[in-house]
Amino acid sequence: MLEKYQDRIRLPLLRNKVTTAAAAAEWVQDGMTVGMSGFTRAGDVKKVPLALADRARHEKLKITLITGASLGHDVDKVLTEAGALARRMPFQADPVLRAAINRGEVMYIDQHLSETVEMLRTRQIAPIDIAIVEAIAITETGALIPSTSVGNSASFAILADKVIVEINLTQSLELEGLHDIFIPKHRPQREPIPLMTPHDRIGTTAIEIPFEKIVAIVITDEKDSSSTILPADAETAAIASHLVNFFKQEVALGRLTDSLLPIQAGIGTIANAVMMGFVDSPFEHLTMYSEVLQDSTFDLFDAGKLDFASGSSITLSREKSKQVFGDITRYKDRLVLRPQEVTNHPEVIRRLGIIAINTALEADIYGNVNSTHVLGTHMMNGIGGSGDFARNAYLSVFATKSIAKGGKISSIVPMVSHVDHTEHDVDILVTEIGLADLRGLAPRERAQVIINQCVAEPYRAMLNEYVAKANQGGGQTPHVLEQAFSWHTRYRDTGSMLPEHTHPAPEIELIRLLSEPFESPETQAV
Ligand code: COA
Repeated sequence: MLEKYQDRIRLPLLRNKVTTAAAAAEWVQDGMTVGMSGFTRAGDVKKVPLALADRARHEKLKITLITGASLGHDVDKVLTEAGALARRMPFQADPVLRAAINRGEVMYIDQHLSETVEMLRTRQIAPIDIAIVEAIAITETGALIPSTSVGNSASFAILADKVIVEINLTQSLELEGLHDIFIPKHRPQREPIPLMTPHDRIGTTAIEIPFEKIVAIVITDEKDSSSTILPADAETAAIASHLVNFFKQEVALGRLTDSLLPIQAGIGTIANAVMMGFVDSPFEHLTMYSEVLQDSTFDLFDAGKLDFASGSSITLSREKSKQVFGDITRYKDRLVLRPQEVTNHPEVIRRLGIIAINTALEADIYGNVNSTHVLGTHMMNGIGGSGDFARNAYLSVFATKSIAKGGKISSIVPMVSHVDHTEHDVDILVTEIGLADLRGLAPRERAQVIINQCVAEPYRAMLNEYVAKANQGGGQTPHVLEQAFSWHTRYRDTGSMLPEHTHPAPEIELIRLLSEPFESPETQAV
């Protein structure tokens, strides 16, 4: 029976656990905490969550859902619409769930991604009742071989009493061997994580659990959802160009070599475009010690620029996915996927000397960064791993376009309306206008550099006016408290941060600046 799954379920006595998604979902009870695989749309479970949503439409079923990071296949949307989510952590990026969070209907715990399983392991938060994990196969001993992400799956499966496995037949068995599962010991037996380079392997290639915990196996045949990143545009290309020029200077000054240091790049369009900037750069033998490996990672491999990439998930556009997973053996010896607790661990990030490149929604004149809250109140996605990396990096870079919403929003404001990364964790701020090197500068100096380097008119003049007034009141970090959020309240009330009489519109100045030649001709084509 079920012999056709013998390469996927290699422990024969588990083959009679194969069942339907609906039957597997019956293991989940109202009020449970469920740990699901999935990290930035990669390696998520595809069928059981939808069966849970079906149940929640007809009976009282509300769960706390913990994942690695965001999910694909509209799972967060479907669960939200079915009313199945009471609490959600540690990250999401779904518009429907986001709206429910902002209406106060789903309690969202926005958490550093390295911390979730540490809090579970030490019982600082409610334990996982059941884990639902995607795998490419179950080994002869009952160990789970993950698919395109590791995320928190290993600890979920280890900590839960019951485990449901979705075996995804579309995921190639060639992925076996890609993963490196290392789980830190409980204290006081805790030891250093023995990772000295991005390519060190320190664990096992599968998640080892007692096979008796596997209560159901569901067979699926759906691919991961594609990533939603947009191609580079003039502004993101300019940001990349400024960064490449900055790194060239660091090499010229002898602070870095041509291979820089291991790079971490955040999620989204801007971070992917910034990494693409390295394709036409003079740097060689680059390495990544990152969280999500996006399209740019594989473009850098193909360009011969990147030697090795360590991550927790591989999240690709449709086209790139076909190319990469169509022949993963081409890249496999240059890749490793680890638990997010390890990819994002402060100890390892500090030891390796990571160059962290993350994205801001807004930054203020002193370099504090808001990556999560629109107008200080409404959640966008979450902090993700940006805080893990920014605080512990060798060099912490934040990138943003200088304006949003056609110029009605300035991404550089007098005071950020929510703080994710304090001034102490931000070394470099870069926009399409230019790059501010904040290292070794006091707040008053930081304000001048940020305004001059990163902001276009008319917001530049407005910020200079604000700073002049703030300086009259004195202080280490001068502010006019009555006006600190006036740009945000003006946007809320009028739909623009610009005073109604202000001209020209920032797009016009931006177009002028973007038409000027960049410093380095060879990076222009980025
Ligand atoms: N106020 C309001 N909205 C803003 C804004 C601001 N100051 N700045 C940008 N936005 C909007 C954009 O207009 C865009 O909206 P749209 O989707 O309606 O077009 C959206 O935010 C995304 O901005 P974009 O400029 O396209 O950047 P991005 O795709 O690179 O995403 C973040 C930027 C900050 C949302 C994203 O990087 C993120 O969620 N970061 C936090 C988590 C993180 O850094 N994880 C990485 C750790 S490894």
